[in-house]
Amino acid sequence: TPQASTPEGSVHQAPPGVCVGESSALPEGGRLHARLEGRYVTVLRLDGKLSCIDSVCFHAGGPLGIGDIEDVNGHKCLVCPWHFYKIDVDTGDKYYQGVEFQNGKMVPGEWKSNGVRQRVHPVAEADGKIYVDAVKGGGGVAKVDSDNYACDASCGERVLH
Ligand code: FES
Repeated sequence: TPQASTPEGSVHQAPPGVCVGESSALPEGGRLHARLEGRYVTVLRLDGKLSCIDSVCFHAGGPLGIGDIEDVNGHKCLVCPWHFYKIDVDTGDKYYQGVEFQNGKMVPGEWKSNGVRQRVHPVAEADGKIYVDAVKGGGGVAKVDSDNYACDASCGERVLH
């Protein structure tokens, strides 16, 4: 059935944020990298779900966005190529495996979170395009460690200090 047009001439409203590419450029298991709001972000499609996370690792500026994907206790994680930190692509949590003492020996224990250390951003798909609403910082946004690698538009000044 034909759709009635609105006074603005369109029934579709683009999601908030900036278009970072066509949906066809991000197949299942793929990723896109973009520079938005003075930061590098990586968009992933894993098991049909989109995620967007800062590309530069909070730990020491490593290329987290190109890391391998690993499952940690049911959480999809990027594994940073530099020091192998495991970062949840949906929450930005950094996971580590605790240790336990058993009969005088140290053995691997439960996986735990060191908290949200990497910034994640809202991402949406509409009309064959992908939109990222990258966090600008300031304005009451609580700081996340990976913000240390975000700059203003000219990359001359940091945003969140
Ligand atoms: Fe990513 Fe160290 S820079 S784990």
